[in-house]
Amino acid sequence: MKRLACAVMLIAGCTSAATEIETTVLAETLPPASTTTLAVLEGVDAAPGLGDRMFPELGNAGYDVATYDIDLSLNAELTRVEGEVTIEAVAEQPLASFVVDFVGHRVTSVTVDGRDADHARVTRDMRITPTDVIASGERFVIAITYEGLLSSVTLTDFPFPTGWQTGNGGSVFLFSEPDGASGVFPSNDHPRDRADVALQVTVPAEHVVVSGGTARLVEVVGDHRVFRFEIPDVAPYLVPLAIGAFEAVETDDGITTWMGNGAPLPPGFERQAEILATLEADLGPYPFDQSGAVVVDSDFPAALETQTLSTYTTTSAAWGTAVIAHELAHQWFGNEISLGQWDDIWLNEGPATFMTWRWIEIDRGREAYEEEVRRAWEAMSIAQLPPPDHPPGQDLFNASVYQRGGLAFVALREFVGDDEFFDFLRAYVATFSGKTVTTEAFLTFVLVILGPDAEALVTEWIRAEELPAL
Ligand code: ARG
Ligand code: ZN
Repeated sequence: MKRLACAVMLIAGCTSAATEIETTVLAETLPPASTTTLAVLEGVDAAPGLGDRMFPELGNAGYDVATYDIDLSLNAELTRVEGEVTIEAVAEQPLASFVVDFVGHRVTSVTVDGRDADHARVTRDMRITPTDVIASGERFVIAITYEGLLSSVTLTDFPFPTGWQTGNGGSVFLFSEPDGASGVFPSNDHPRDRADVALQVTVPAEHVVVSGGTARLVEVVGDHRVFRFEIPDVAPYLVPLAIGAFEAVETDDGITTWMGNGAPLPPGFERQAEILATLEADLGPYPFDQSGAVVVDSDFPAALETQTLSTYTTTSAAWGTAVIAHELAHQWFGNEISLGQWDDIWLNEGPATFMTWRWIEIDRGREAYEEEVRRAWEAMSIAQLPPPDHPPGQDLFNASVYQRGGLAFVALREFVGDDEFFDFLRAYVATFSGKTVTTEAFLTFVLVILGPDAEALVTEWIRAEELPAL
């Protein structure tokens, strides 16, 4: 489901500025290869990418996924998987062939609308050629079966492997940002194409499967257990999944945290509902129907805002309420509002970092907030890092993206005052909810709501070589 934001819709009823934004984004969406004129009956060989500036091979042109039905079966050691994935998609061009992102595994069958389809694999892509051209606007069903070893994705210069990760004590879990989902299931692996996911996982009965969304339903089939989850409107990299020895810990606030290998609940995790409520006070209603957490027994020093159920490791969970506030803030910034380009990543990490400091302010007072802000500014002043917008190379998660991205929100808050600032944040969330945002669209929104001086200020914070003074 792909919806482009009409940035000034609320204010100006979607006038020319908004049209410009749509045009820009659409122009980026379709690489030149797929826009040549063609005879309708022939169809195109749709481009193997969505025009992402940082990851040109991620995502695929020519169709929009509506649903994924993902059925995975794992062995007792959690080393092998058999997968059966059914994708319902809508063609956006007449398609002679199209591509899905998929890495590793042995593909055992591919059908389109029930008929065997040719398929050829090149690195992270699989081009599928159905027997007949799919008409533009037509809904079609791709079914793919595969098997192979669980393995993570290392195809880019990205500094750590994504997708499947191994925890301690035999557990496995997903950490897919930005490109790991395609190492787990065939997909249109870009945040621009969100879809409804039905995930079914079958494991030997000693294991527990943890994911997000609704309708967790466990069936016992012989000595196996079948777990089922439905996660609506989610980008592939945000699908939560952890498998192993997990136990649910329900706290007094009604929130469930799944703990790996019998570990006790880390300090702070009993306050998730309270943190969520403070975020809602600033941002408006939490965008999803469920909220929970999983803490995997692992030393991996990061957490991920997997949708409706954030994924922590033993190491990152020890960071306490700050990391919880950060991942929960991402449910708005990153999950409810999706990135149009991966190099707009500061639009995820900047507001999530700001909201972390804001949580510290609410929890520990204004001085504690100012101390965080001062420390971040000082770290940036000696860090020699480029500004956060469009980080170079594949350096998605550098400290400037987080800290200077967060400071841009601090500076804006100082400039316009609390009332206008938080009204602005809520308007931004409401306007872009369920949609895609780009830095350009965000700056236009700042301009329209808060005026040219505010836009100039934010632009300087995210783009100037020199770190602005606070
Ligand atoms: N979006 C994740 C976060 O919560 C990104 C984690 C980056 N991963 C890493 N290994 N540094 O910030
Ligand atoms: Zn983050």
